[in-house]
Amino acid sequence: MTAYTPTDLPAAVSLRGVVRQFGDNRVIDALDLDIAPGEFVALLGASGSGKTTLLRTLAGLDPADAGELRVPEARSAVFQEPRLMPWKRAWKNVTLGVRLADPKARALQALTEVGLAHRLEAYPATLSGGESQRVALARSLVREPKLLLLDEPFAALDALTRIRMHRLIIELWRAHTPAVLLVTHDVDEAVLLSDRIIVLEDGRIAEELRVDLARPRENGDLGFTAIRNRLLSLLGVEKDDPASLGRDHNPFIAAGYPLSAIAI
Ligand SMILES: Nc1ncnc2c1ncn2[C@@H]1O[C@H](COP(=O)(O)OP(=O)(O)O)[C@@H](O)[C@H]1O
Ligand SMILES: [Mg+2]
Repeated sequence: MTAYTPTDLPAAVSLRGVVRQFGDNRVIDALDLDIAPGEFVALLGASGSGKTTLLRTLAGLDPADAGELRVPEARSAVFQEPRLMPWKRAWKNVTLGVRLADPKARALQALTEVGLAHRLEAYPATLSGGESQRVALARSLVREPKLLLLDEPFAALDALTRIRMHRLIIELWRAHTPAVLLVTHDVDEAVLLSDRIIVLEDGRIAEELRVDLARPRENGDLGFTAIRNRLLSLLGVEKDDPASLGRDHNPFIAAGYPLSAIAI
């Protein structure tokens, strides 16, 4: 007996037959997708497969050309670049465009959650890449999103910073319980973080995989490796392919760093 049936709950995201095209280029082609409230979904797909296009449509930055699209009003997005206003201090960036009674106090609260209370007054140029992404996360938090859209937010960060960000994102997800859609190129990142992994191909969901592993997860775990290998083969990356070199072959990975940015 399961405690609840997911279908009884109103979905955080419900897409039916969603189309997005640029001229003749149909990038999203009659896509159906449901995400349950509080569910963490990772979206994988080759470069140019339409991941960002889908995310922008979900964020309301671009319209859909056809289909039904149900998303929560409260949603926010973090992209690969932090997109901070260089002339505004960190706290001002966090609360920009949101109406709040005491914006500075609210910004401090959000920056504290991402470990950046001490950078409240800092200008973006003085922040590291990881710090800038944490400010971008704080900015998305003050919007109290029911849907958090993440488009390769860790891709530009170094391996150690990325590990810290993985931990932080799980902490924030647990504390605020938004549904999350994380676009990533990194198979390990998808298995490490998500409840479910979907693979986008030709504008539709080509594969879907549930990740039933207890958290916190380690990328050496038996179950982890099984899912990772299954994904790699679904994505057409052979295990002896240089692009999927295991941790045994790479001293950096052998030391426990995640296998980053597998080109798929
Ligand atoms: N504004 C746009 N105008 C025309 N074509 C676009 C636009 N945005 C994206 N595309 C095209 O849509 C396809 C998918 O792009 P994108 O969603 O950025 O892929 P991904 O994020 O998966 O790498 C590409 O062929 C890209 O050239
Ligand atoms: Mg993209």
